[in-house]
Amino acid sequence: MNSNFQKKYGPWALVTGASDGIGRALAIEIAKVGLNLIIVGRNNERLEKLGSEIQKKFNVIVKIIAIDLAKNESNKALISQINQYEIGLFAAIAGFGTSGDFFKGKIQDELEMIDVNCRSVVEQTYYFANRFVTQKRGGIILMGSLVGFQGVPYSANYAATKAFIQNFAEGLHFELKQFGVDVLSSAPGPVQSGFGKRANLNMGNAASTEVVAEKTIQALGYMVTIRPGFLSKFLGWSLIILPRIMRIYIMRIIMGKMAK
Ligand SMILES: NC(=O)c1ccc[n+]([C@@H]2O[C@H](COP(=O)([O-])OP(=O)(O)OC[C@H]3O[C@@H](n4cnc5c(N)ncnc54)[C@H](OP(=O)(O)O)[C@@H]3O)[C@@H](O)[C@H]2O)c1
Repeated sequence: MNSNFQKKYGPWALVTGASDGIGRALAIEIAKVGLNLIIVGRNNERLEKLGSEIQKKFNVIVKIIAIDLAKNESNKALISQINQYEIGLFAAIAGFGTSGDFFKGKIQDELEMIDVNCRSVVEQTYYFANRFVTQKRGGIILMGSLVGFQGVPYSANYAATKAFIQNFAEGLHFELKQFGVDVLSSAPGPVQSGFGKRANLNMGNAASTEVVAEKTIQALGYMVTIRPGFLSKFLGWSLIILPRIMRIYIMRIIMGKMAK
């Protein structure tokens, strides 16, 4: 797998949201297959620690970019720092959620979530889609979720951002395939990471970040959507056979129990 993967997606990969959780595990998984890495997040200290860990363990180079992707100007700043790298793989993992009654939350958090989960993903993907089409190869991994396949009470805006990403990934997959560019949506259920704390959710029976990362890398180039982990497969496939309205009712019960 390593040499094929390197040829298709190397020699550099960029992973946003790499300072923690799924992005961190994905960066390690990518380093395992021998790609150099540009890792992005806000927390410089955590990025530095991960960078030196990866460089010590695997024979790859790691560059760190600490940046707040909620800010509109950040995407231009990010792009200006990566133009000279021969990147073949882009993983947009940075993101966060909120929970509870939408009308009681802070509108600033909800708008920031749209900026990080959607706006910056679209801007970065536009840049990479152009580069990858020109070089006639590349991979784009976008972060969907189990909640992105129907409306979800008590996580209404977060679920909507993930529905956006799911639709975006599906459309792009078939647009870019003819140019040799692979697009994948990774849509897990609950995952044990920093996500639950920031979203104020009890994560319960959650998958590990390592499983999500491993299955996501294995699916790139073969699938449109991967549902990594047992729970996302079990819930995903049992929900999909139901009418959409039933799925919303069931998600309301699940999310009502998870929201603190
Ligand atoms: N955990 C789950 O149950 C689950 C399930 C399905 C999908 N997802 C999706 O998976 C992705 C990763 O989440 P996770 O579970 O790994 O959560 P996590 O452990 O909280 O990690 C989130 C990552 O996103 C980065 N990030 C957040 N806001 C950012 C900002 N404004 N600018 C730059 N980076 C930012 C964080 O970095 P800094 O803190 O350093 O900024 C961190 O590296 C998200 O898109 C999430 O929606 C998660």
